[in-house]
Amino acid sequence: MSTVVQSASAAISTEEIRSQFPALERQHNDHPVAYFDGAGGTQTPRVVVDAVADYLLNHNANTHWEYPTSHETDAIIESARHVFADFLNASANEIVFGPNTTTMIYHLSRALGRTLGPGDEIVITELEHHANVAPWQALEIERGVRLNIAQMDPETGQLDWNDFERLVTKKTKVVAFGAGCNALGTVNDYRRAVELAHSVGALALVDAVHYAPYFLCDVKQANCDFLTCSAYKFYGPHVSVFYGKKDLLESVDFPKLQPAPDTAPERAEMGTQNHEGIAGAAAAVDFYASLAGGTGVSPVVVHAQDARATRRELLQSAFQGLRAHSSPEVKQLWESLSGINQPKSRGVWLSAACSLRTATFMQRR
Ligand SMILES: Cc1ncc(COP(=O)(O)O)c(C=O)c1O
Repeated sequence: MSTVVQSASAAISTEEIRSQFPALERQHNDHPVAYFDGAGGTQTPRVVVDAVADYLLNHNANTHWEYPTSHETDAIIESARHVFADFLNASANEIVFGPNTTTMIYHLSRALGRTLGPGDEIVITELEHHANVAPWQALEIERGVRLNIAQMDPETGQLDWNDFERLVTKKTKVVAFGAGCNALGTVNDYRRAVELAHSVGALALVDAVHYAPYFLCDVKQANCDFLTCSAYKFYGPHVSVFYGKKDLLESVDFPKLQPAPDTAPERAEMGTQNHEGIAGAAAAVDFYASLAGGTGVSPVVVHAQDARATRRELLQSAFQGLRAHSSPEVKQLWESLSGINQPKSRGVWLSAACSLRTATFMQRR
């Protein structure tokens, strides 16, 4: 069960939320700035920076030693695993931290590649970020596996599911699938992809880097084997969070140094972690949870007995509220941009083709 963290809050105004982001006070040529590179990373609220600073100023140490700051470091990392277990609907011992998603997918591909060879196949899609392409391409060269890439429909920016289904066969050992496309904003049905992978006995990795800031992930419901996201896309520091099913984290032959812990989840982590970043990433999730009932939308879930909601429930409420609040604003921005940019920007055209997208705009020059 998800940790109970606080009562659901009353509505918070947009101004109150904005005031928590010092970067939004920045001026450029005497004008307030708007940050349009959301797909490249979000700005950071003060609570996240405070958590990073608090770690470095008061608890800074390496892990697993017998002195107070080391114990505190262990506790902060363990607590962050619980926070991300709530964020992804996983267990704390299924949460692995790493420097970024690119490194973690390379790490996984290197580990899985040890047992793959000629005759084995991996399936990805044309909608992937290169971080979910290059690690598998490396296995073509190093291990002789075949990489199959399912096409997207250029008219709609959607995955061609017929092509994807054709490519997933008994030879497929891994399906590595982007839940959200950072270039086009396309949202892909990752549950369906996982099901397809499992129907042929393949492992399923979900790249949720672009998806996780917009939709609350649920690894249990999706039944995926691995899922990865990066906290700097949702108000956190530059740290990645990698989920693996416990039995896989225990059994996959991850490359590691001999003295490193051999128990999950630490056996999938390499070297000293970014402790301050992990503390900040956990604070970013609690920042999201603190927005439950914010933005003028009432909390949707409150615990019956004591009117206290779990962190997961608060997150569900926050994600729903933020989407409801931002959808009309995104639409308005699309319409304004399409008025300025003729011929029509690609995003306007794609949004007409599909209603379920992330708020991702692409402007043609
Ligand atoms: C969909 C997607 N996957 C993977 C990555 C790579 O993540 P990282 O920068 O953490 O390596 C990105 C980064 O933008 C992305 O958008």
